[in-house]
Amino acid sequence: MKKSVKWHIWIASEVPRVFVLLFVFIIPFLLYAGISNPELLSVTENSFALYWDTDKAELCAINYGATRSNMDKSWAESGKPKKFHFLEVKGLKPGKEYYYQIKCGQEKSRQTRMSPGRFTTLTLPAGKQLFSFAVLTDMHIKEDVAGLILLPGAKKASLIPGFKWKDPDDPYWNFTNRNAIERINQLKPDFTIVNGDLTSWFTEDEFLIAKQMLDKLQMPYYVLRGNHDRVEDQPEDLFKKVFGLKQSYYSFEQGGFLFICLDSVRLKDGWEDISQEQWQWLESTLRGNALEPTFIFTHYQIGIGAPGINKDDQKRFLSILEQNPQTIACFYGHQHGARVEMLKFGERTVPQIIVPTAKEYPSGFALVRVFETGFVYNFQSTDCENCLEWRSITRGEYFGLAPEINGGSLSERNFVYPFPLEIQALVKK
Ligand SMILES: [Fe+2]
Repeated sequence: MKKSVKWHIWIASEVPRVFVLLFVFIIPFLLYAGISNPELLSVTENSFALYWDTDKAELCAINYGATRSNMDKSWAESGKPKKFHFLEVKGLKPGKEYYYQIKCGQEKSRQTRMSPGRFTTLTLPAGKQLFSFAVLTDMHIKEDVAGLILLPGAKKASLIPGFKWKDPDDPYWNFTNRNAIERINQLKPDFTIVNGDLTSWFTEDEFLIAKQMLDKLQMPYYVLRGNHDRVEDQPEDLFKKVFGLKQSYYSFEQGGFLFICLDSVRLKDGWEDISQEQWQWLESTLRGNALEPTFIFTHYQIGIGAPGINKDDQKRFLSILEQNPQTIACFYGHQHGARVEMLKFGERTVPQIIVPTAKEYPSGFALVRVFETGFVYNFQSTDCENCLEWRSITRGEYFGLAPEINGGSLSERNFVYPFPLEIQALVKK
């Protein structure tokens, strides 16, 4: 009895203290828009772009400047408050170091691996810009679950769970790819290359939807086959039929440069494969255009190798790159993430670039600007409201490891590649 009275007294005496705690610490904390998942997505010669989430809908700002102690400039968000944020700051100077901090209400972002709070803007290659192109990859029309790992040929039985979008009437492959295409139109490159996996299950309907979406591009575009665009037991090759292609591998020219688009897919099951006929065509095309700087595109990352890539094909491809010093770089899809590896052939380095997909994290495409003495590669994020929310959701793919697996580093998403002197000598000025 005595004991319970003591407890009542103790509780009564603690009530004011509890209220003080609530007002001083907990309620203001709940009113804060907690900043999470900040990512420095892109850095160009005159801009940078950031993504972040807030616990509550909020309008935030980015403070930035030349030193950490003097972030005297600011870009603020406008419109209605939001939880998923993307802001691109423009008007920067090339080759200069900048510091930045996101500010939402009273809270300021902290430095993380993906948002280090500082960067140096790119320095453009010397000479004039000759042309530019966008690379969009892995559209996966009609896919309904993102982030699965399926072995080539498998239709179900993913090795891990995936993610679904809340509105079946506006699927994620639709709004992300549509937004990417709108953004490409704003950027106005000379052409776009779509690096495979246009469809999910190689049906005519999916190919037609992909074509309908891509036809919105206001510049020429070129499509490559991915493992999802295979034939299997269909009576005809719908990839070739819908896009009116006589041959699924081909080359074209732009501004004195050669672009080679390969078909790296075995039609019957989607595994990596290049036919003898295609190898011979590739070798003779390179031999016949030895004085033209050349970019090569394939869906599978043959030059780097990965599970599922035929070791003999990789060896043959590497020896072709080695024997053809006019090859500048290779662009791949398939992995859905950002990755760059530099292959070395003596003094020469040949970048092997895996371009991320728009249809899930990190959600974007690549813009490549070709100059007389090098090229500039930049990741361009999707930015529609649904795109940003979907980006946040699919950040959780691969048990939350998507930033590590698919995000890539800042320099794998944004870099300048100066042409070696042999290539510079081939560029027509
Ligand atoms: Fe894919």
